[in-house]
Amino acid sequence: MILSIESSCDDSSIAVTRIEDKKLLFHKKISQELIHSKYGGVVPELAARLHATALPKILEEAKEWFASLKAIAVTNEPGLSVTLVEGVVMAKALGVSLGLPLLPINHLRGHIYSLFIEKDTLFPMDILLVSGGHTQILHVESYSDVKILATTLDDSFGESFDKVSKMLGFGYPGGPIVEKYAKKGDGGEYAFTVPLQNSPKIAFSYSGLKNQVRLAIENTKELSEQTKADICFSFQRVAVEHLMQKLKKIYKNRDIKRLGVVGGASANLYLRSKLEEFCKVKSAALHVAPLKYCSDNAAMIGRCAVDAYDLGKFKRFDEIEVSPRSSYV
Ligand code: KG4
Ligand code: ZN
Repeated sequence: MILSIESSCDDSSIAVTRIEDKKLLFHKKISQELIHSKYGGVVPELAARLHATALPKILEEAKEWFASLKAIAVTNEPGLSVTLVEGVVMAKALGVSLGLPLLPINHLRGHIYSLFIEKDTLFPMDILLVSGGHTQILHVESYSDVKILATTLDDSFGESFDKVSKMLGFGYPGGPIVEKYAKKGDGGEYAFTVPLQNSPKIAFSYSGLKNQVRLAIENTKELSEQTKADICFSFQRVAVEHLMQKLKKIYKNRDIKRLGVVGGASANLYLRSKLEEFCKVKSAALHVAPLKYCSDNAAMIGRCAVDAYDLGKFKRFDEIEVSPRSSYV
C-alpha cells in the first residue's frame, strides 16, 4: 500500500491506496475553507500552521495501515511553498522512521489521476485542467509524456471566480457561490465581452474579464441580490465561452477521442454541460471525476503514486524539494 499526503494549498489530506488493484482504502481531508473565507482567499502562512495540526490528526487515523506500507507519496509541486513543506517534511519523517521510499508527486498530474481513482489508467487522453492556480489544455500520452497545448497568460479560471466572489462580498472559494448565484440570474444589462475572442492566440486570459466585472460593480448604484445574480450569470457565461472558443480552435485541426476535465473548477455544472455539447459534436468521450475528487485531495495523489511506484519514480530524500512552480517533468 501507499500512503499519500496532500498539502499544496488549503486542504490537508491523507490517503492509503492498495498497489495491486489501485483501490482506495482510506481517505480523509480537513478543509480550511471556512477559516480563509473571511479573508477572501487563502492566507499561506495561516494555511501552513493549520496543516501542521490537521495532518498529524489524520495520520493518527491511518496508523493501522503502517505495517502494510511500501512507499510514502507526497505532493511537492506546484502550490504554496510554505504549505507544500508541511506535507514534504511529514513524508520524509515517515520515510525515515518506517524505512520506506518516497514518491514525490506533481499536484497537476494528481488532478489528472482523479479520473482514475479505483479505475485503470486510460491514456492517451486530452485534458482540460481548471483549478485555482491553473487553466491548461493538455495532451497526455503517458505518465511522463504530458504536452501543454494551451495555458493562461495571467489569472486562472477558478481564481477569476474567487475574485468575482470577493468583489461581490461573497466568501471563498468563490466558484460554488458564483455558480449558485448565476442560476438565479439571466445577465440583465450585463454583457461582458469574451477575452481574446478575435485573437489567433491559443491561450487564456482572465484578468481583463475580472476588470470588466469590477467596472460593472463600480458603475452599479445598488447591488441588489438580482443584480449580483445577473453579474454572476454573465461572468460565468463569458468565462466558460472563453474556454470553449479556444478548445474549438485547438481541435479544429486536431483529433480528439477522449477529453477529461479535472481540477476544482471542473465541478462547475454549467461548464460540464458545455463540454458535453462539444464532445458530442466531436464524437469524443467526456471523462469527469466524481464531484468529491474534483477539489484537492490525497486520493488522486495516491492513485497517481501507484503508477509512479510501478514506473519506479522514487527519489532520494535529499533530492525531494518543494517547487511552487508548475512542471510535469
Ligand atoms: O483544484 P483546486 O481545489 O485547487 C487548486 O489546485 O487550485 O481548485 C480550487 C478552485 C477555486 O478557485 C474554486 O473557486 C474553484 O476551484 N471552484 C469552482 C467551482 N468549485 C470550485 N469554480 C467554478 N465553479 C465551481 N463550481
Ligand atoms: Zn488542485
